[in-house]
Amino acid sequence: MTSAASQIESQTESLTITRPDDWHVHLRDNPLLPHTVAATAATFARAIVMPNLAPPVTTVELAEGYYQRIVQALPTGMSFEPLMVLYLTADTSPQEIAAAAAHPHVHAVKLYPAGATTNSAYGVRDPDAIDHLYAALEENDLPLLMHGEVIDPAVDIFDRERVFIERHLLRIREKFPALRMVLEHITTGDAVQFVLSQPKNTAATITPQHLMLNRNDLLAGGIRPHNYCLPILKRRTHQEALRQVITTNDARFFLGTDSAPHAQHAKETACGCAGCYSAPAALAFYATVFEECGALQHLEAFASHHGPDFYRLPRNTETVTLVRQPQTIPEAVDAYGTRIIPWQAGGTIPWSLA
Ligand code: NCD
Ligand code: ZN
Ligand code: ZN
Repeated sequence: MTSAASQIESQTESLTITRPDDWHVHLRDNPLLPHTVAATAATFARAIVMPNLAPPVTTVELAEGYYQRIVQALPTGMSFEPLMVLYLTADTSPQEIAAAAAHPHVHAVKLYPAGATTNSAYGVRDPDAIDHLYAALEENDLPLLMHGEVIDPAVDIFDRERVFIERHLLRIREKFPALRMVLEHITTGDAVQFVLSQPKNTAATITPQHLMLNRNDLLAGGIRPHNYCLPILKRRTHQEALRQVITTNDARFFLGTDSAPHAQHAKETACGCAGCYSAPAALAFYATVFEECGALQHLEAFASHHGPDFYRLPRNTETVTLVRQPQTIPEAVDAYGTRIIPWQAGGTIPWSLA
């Protein structure tokens, strides 16, 4: 937008909002924790911490141990509350789900279709074979978070989210109407339509990369491994569906960065890992996109209101301030000996955290 009118409209020089939370992040484990926890806590008051460690966080006891390691890694003077998640397997018991619901640090369970993404080998082979666990989640009112992609090798990778909705999600949604569920990191217009067609207890998180990029940014003019994440970037029409829905201020959509660091050598290789490390500049990425979409006035609700309302947690009371001051994403970061290329390395965005 270059017209004089639009320039006048976009005069907002700073934006103070309720401190946000990240409803989907990968903090990994030691020795990375001091770096990843500080990077997330610099912006976010709380985060839903993904349990796909190796081995995965499958029990309340493992979740509590992980919680303690995260809290120990938090630099003095910073405030941050990790919200823990159990990794669902075919062997998870309904008793473990009841124990998770009763535990003050556990806030959800996560369904990974086996093999769908990083460290998902212990996940669920058949999402239609664990109805007793959905029943336990519904009964205990514990949210089900989903990596929503089928693992059927016959299904094209660009169709795996849509087919997951058609083959599994519609049935699960109908059979367990009171279950609170979050379709994580949505990437398609199909996922947007699915969520919009459901009552308020069906929500979705949206990442910066799926709002800012489409598959051309991954594959056209050279392959860009740092834009490779799962679910994979889709065609532009799907990106546009995501950009459209954030302008509607619908409470079912909220911030989840899916910040997922991998070492540089694990991404820049013949068979590279999926995941974008966006945490350090995450809120500024979202501000950039919301402004491009003419929806800066809805950033606060997306980042700071819809998530806690869905999880039935209080909204934060502190604030953070974004300023219109360009920042350039570093070419690399050194996370206690692990070299990581942050998402959008070398790029410049118009907003910074004050
Ligand atoms: C995530 C990771 O690296 O743990 N990667 C990704 O591409 N999103 C896993 C996940 O969230 O699917
Ligand atoms: Zn995932
Ligand atoms: Zn993730």
